[in-house]
Amino acid sequence: MLKGCQNECMAGGCSSEATKHVTESFKASDLVIIPATTFKEKPDPNGLVFGTVFTDNMLTIEWSLASGWEKPFIKPLENLSLHPASSSLHYAIEPRGQTEENLVPMLWLNEYTLFEGMKAYRGVDGKIRLFRPSLNMDRMARSARRTTLPSFDQNELLECIRKLVEVEKEWVPYSTAASLYIRPTLIGTEPSLGVKKPTKALLYVILSPVGPYFASGSFSPISLWADPKYVRAWKGGTGDCKLGGNYGSSIYAQQEALELGCQQVLWLYGEDHQITEVGTMNLFLYWINEDGENELATPPLDGIILPGVTRQSILDLARNWGEFKVSERYITMSDLTAALEENRVKEMFGAGTACIVCPISKILYKGKHLHIPTMENGPQLTTQFLNKLSDIQYGREDSDWAVLVS
Ligand SMILES: Cc1ncc(COP(=O)(O)O)c(C=O)c1O
Repeated sequence: MLKGCQNECMAGGCSSEATKHVTESFKASDLVIIPATTFKEKPDPNGLVFGTVFTDNMLTIEWSLASGWEKPFIKPLENLSLHPASSSLHYAIEPRGQTEENLVPMLWLNEYTLFEGMKAYRGVDGKIRLFRPSLNMDRMARSARRTTLPSFDQNELLECIRKLVEVEKEWVPYSTAASLYIRPTLIGTEPSLGVKKPTKALLYVILSPVGPYFASGSFSPISLWADPKYVRAWKGGTGDCKLGGNYGSSIYAQQEALELGCQQVLWLYGEDHQITEVGTMNLFLYWINEDGENELATPPLDGIILPGVTRQSILDLARNWGEFKVSERYITMSDLTAALEENRVKEMFGAGTACIVCPISKILYKGKHLHIPTMENGPQLTTQFLNKLSDIQYGREDSDWAVLVS
């Protein structure tokens, strides 16, 4: 394929993996590494506020329709210089709640900012590992396709990220409770106010050390606010991609949850108040289902759920253990309230890269506080997932899911 024609492929509704169609991706072998010569002091990861401290270097790769991808660079972290009309500055974050009433105006909106969230872990053996990073690369390629940003070869990007983490290896905390957060980002940089496929883009990756998610070192359960007046995602929308606009527009509801004394939003969908996700995590319910079976359930990937790497890993582990039924199925608030009344709920938890798993203890719904007995159940299953996944990430257990950086 000629340089610059990949947008035409995508406009043609190309649904196969991005790599198949990209002959003009950037290449990790072209990486130019001109690292920082002055170094910031590495912080104590305990007590770090998420995403506020960054390492000394970044990866940048520019793209234009006219010239395709340029060479990747690893260079000192610096501010970006963007034209004020850059598409990513105008058509991504919308500072308002997404309600069912404003669904129509949001639907046509192109969003020119997408990102990923993954981590590098320093294992008990001193080696640095990534966790199933190809799933992040696949998701990023899907997000790029959905938002008309340029496609790229996922393996080449992964190799560039691996090199960046290698350059910054001293920033990976020497702790099995902390990690180095990796934030790949792709933005439209065309200096034009037109709502159309951008002809210029920038892919960059920055790194930020992060401390333990649970400051006390032990699980603290969270409380949720469930109200159908805000929706995170809708059929035909972009909720299954990691686009900046999905997050900017969720902050309004998150703020209301905090004002009501809850920590996060339980996102509902549809007339029957389907349970979809929690904050920025996928949701799992471990219960005795309507047929009397022990079941681990999570909503299906029907377009409104982000396909989380942790979600996939929990499903894979649970199916492999074969100890209970594992389902990707719809769960409504009335399914949940009926099960609570009949003492059929065992554990409920969120799942994501930030915390791995996060137990849920309370839901404020229709003015009532529903008590979720997750902690009374141990939480046995939630802890089993936490231990298994963190053993893989920190090298206490060998697994194909762990990819060595160095
Ligand atoms: C909306 C949403 N759901 C779920 C997740 C969990 O995904 P992962 O396990 O890949 O971190 C995230 C994390 O970024 C998210 O933003």
